[in-house]
Amino acid sequence: MRYPSVTGLPFLCLLVTSLFFAHCAGNETPPTGEADSTPVTATATITKAAYGTTSAGGAVDKYTLRNARGMEVEVITYGGIITSLTALDSAGNYANVTLGFDDLEGYRTNNPYFGALIGRYGNRIAGAKFTLDGKEYTLEANNGPNHLHGGVTGFDKVIWEASEVPSDTEPGLRLTYLSPDGEGGYPGNLSTTVVYTLRDDNSLEVSYEATTDQPTVVNLTQHAYFNLSGDFSRDILDHVVEIDADRFLPVDATLIPTGELQPVAGTPFDFTEPKPVGRDIGQSDDQLTKGQGFDHCWVLNSPSGSSPVATVHHPATGRYMEVFTDEPAIQFYTGNFLDGTLSAPGGGTYGRRSGLCLETQHYPDSPNQSAFPSVVLRPGETYATTTTYKFSTK
Ligand code: BGC
Repeated sequence: MRYPSVTGLPFLCLLVTSLFFAHCAGNETPPTGEADSTPVTATATITKAAYGTTSAGGAVDKYTLRNARGMEVEVITYGGIITSLTALDSAGNYANVTLGFDDLEGYRTNNPYFGALIGRYGNRIAGAKFTLDGKEYTLEANNGPNHLHGGVTGFDKVIWEASEVPSDTEPGLRLTYLSPDGEGGYPGNLSTTVVYTLRDDNSLEVSYEATTDQPTVVNLTQHAYFNLSGDFSRDILDHVVEIDADRFLPVDATLIPTGELQPVAGTPFDFTEPKPVGRDIGQSDDQLTKGQGFDHCWVLNSPSGSSPVATVHHPATGRYMEVFTDEPAIQFYTGNFLDGTLSAPGGGTYGRRSGLCLETQHYPDSPNQSAFPSVVLRPGETYATTTTYKFSTK
């Protein structure tokens, strides 16, 4: 067969190149190798599927974001919950590394905030009340005397409006929720947008925006529990964690910060150099007793969004996660209250410390502690913050 304009060596090159791309286009197997050097072999995709219905009849969808390298993140519109996030190990195998449940029922009942968006206020507010501009607001006390993670029906339990943000390489999902004035006891209609973007470098960016029509307080976060082993029957004590923070916030018996910023040096809370979670967690220490392990807020040294504020390494699989944020603090929670009663997909239950959370945020109880950075949002202002979880191997 003759090709009038393409002959000899150029033709051979063209043929080889075409065969290569044809092969890649039909290749459904996840690419292998170091995460950062994994070749781009496909076009990124977003798919949508029905996920379930709430008891009130609300339809919940699941979106699957897949980047061009093959990493996938699944998000449901209920609670903006990340139900699965896959990361490569050193051998080139993908596994889900976030704790979750089999179905919507699991998330609706007894979810300890697995994968969820948290609002209006991530973490605790003492006595479930605060005063703003001279007026006292009473919130729901859902954690002993305190308010935790937005109350009984926080942002983790509402259905978000979703719209796709298509891209050839970096698919995104935009979620919006209008929290009405007075919801959970908070003032102001709060219009909230969260955008999940699965970047081409295998990072998941979570960007938050909110505006209000009355002065209010806001502190949004993401509550994914990570277990980089991908095996949720294991605990996370072998994960090696580093947190770029010279100080943390000691707490009282109900886990409300005392107001002090305590140096981590010389304490089990020193993660300024990478160390296994299990190294000091069993030490006899009043703060560890109060948290039943690590369940504290670290004051970040220099959050900027451009260098990691925390890293997690799982040496056995090589999986490595870096956390970037512009928030001033991070709650490091080692899943101390998981107790083997919640069922994991595929059998078994979630045992104590089978996941760890790195929740970027402002300090707990800021509405009541004027020395802490302000969480007040006023009409005309835009709350805007971004956190990125980047996955690779080392
Ligand atoms: C808190 C824990 C709490 C957990 C709820 C974390 O953010 O710090 O104290 O038990 O959320 O699952």
